[in-house]
Amino acid sequence: MVKGGKRLEGEVKVSGAKNAALPILVSSLLVDGWNTYHNVPRLMDIESTKVLLSKLGADLETDGHEVRINARGFNNHEAPYDLVRKMRASILVLGPILARLKKARVSLPGGCAIGARPINLHLKGLARLGAKIDLQHGYVEAEAQQLKGNEIYLDVATVTGTENLMMAAVLAEGTTVLRNAAREPEIKALADVLVQMGADISGAGTSIMVINGVPELKPVSVSILPDRIETGTLMVAAALTQGDVTLVGCEPAHLEAVTHKLRLTGADVVSRGSSIRVRGPAEIASVDIKTLAYPGFPTDMQAQFMVLMSVAKGLSMISETIFENRFIHVSELKRMGADINVSGNTALIKGVPQLSGAPVMATDLRASASLVLAGLAARGTTEVRRVYHLDRGYESLEKKLALLGADIYREKE
Ligand code: EPU
Repeated sequence: MVKGGKRLEGEVKVSGAKNAALPILVSSLLVDGWNTYHNVPRLMDIESTKVLLSKLGADLETDGHEVRINARGFNNHEAPYDLVRKMRASILVLGPILARLKKARVSLPGGCAIGARPINLHLKGLARLGAKIDLQHGYVEAEAQQLKGNEIYLDVATVTGTENLMMAAVLAEGTTVLRNAAREPEIKALADVLVQMGADISGAGTSIMVINGVPELKPVSVSILPDRIETGTLMVAAALTQGDVTLVGCEPAHLEAVTHKLRLTGADVVSRGSSIRVRGPAEIASVDIKTLAYPGFPTDMQAQFMVLMSVAKGLSMISETIFENRFIHVSELKRMGADINVSGNTALIKGVPQLSGAPVMATDLRASASLVLAGLAARGTTEVRRVYHLDRGYESLEKKLALLGADIYREKE
């Protein structure tokens, strides 16, 4: 439940990045021995990953935000449908299973609320590394006695596809060149961990990555980088409420596109070291955005930015170019009084003076965050249902917002 109208003020610490933690925890499968991970966010998707890794035979220990994983007992090559359907990122185990156990059987993830989300490029890439791939009964069945390095060109710079291929290539024989690799900070974070394990990778964070295979890797102790999408979500919350919020423990360099657009809305954004201070404008100016792969404006921030534009002065245009169905929050925002028209992959938003609180339904992770933000700015009370979507990727969002002065609490469903 969110009662709108409160100005957010104060300081809050950002959690570790979900989309970095997922592949990094999975990379523990590449080595025998205890790996230690610090600053792991406490999220449903992290829990799902831990269940999957333990199902594959790894030993795990958790103490707050520290997770330890040892893949010494890793001997199961199958990731079942029941786990993969809960979290698409489970497909990340395909590369490591194949690299270590020579064969893998991983359920196909299927579509999700935001789009079809195929994994054809993960599979094509693994085939280029010499894997024999079959699709049987809803599962990917892959086999390779020894993966061999090769040139791989990705038609689309897929994030988890790049990560899967990196984890397969580090233990392959010879050199792999990944062209049109994804450049998200989470890719560089995974590469840093793999290099610390003893892998030979250059070019991570650029679109051409060169990986020289090594025979084996060693365990590591690493810390997960801050979550740039959680940071961006809280930055929008500050701008939306005419607030004055400082986010600490974040990485401003990963938020340049979001910062740039927020400044155009009139917000005052100042970064210093690992903190960002956002002061919201008295009147929000309309700004157009187009989602793009990093370093462009992130699709994972599109729904939140749309809420800001819903109460801006004037007309703004938001184009979603990454996922084909990522406007599902629009109908809920309209129920709160937003004036939005969607045509194809473009939304036209005519700012209204104020939204009005309503019962709304969360449909996916970032859409649910956007509804919470809308509630902060709306007149009256907003009840966001199905908040489990939020718990997949935000650690205690309502507590962080309450700390900043929001009138928000969780009711048991
Ligand atoms: N694509 C293909 N073929 C493939 C793989 C992807 O055509 O084999 C297409 C997709 O359909 C999409 C585009 O490539 O149009 C980009 O998708 P990508 O594969 O990069 O997305 P992803 O790896 O499945 C990750 C994040 C998403 C984030 C996207 C885009 C993780 C675990 N997930 O997904 O995060 O939106 O990159 O940045 O890293 C979220 O956190 O809410 C979330 C959805």
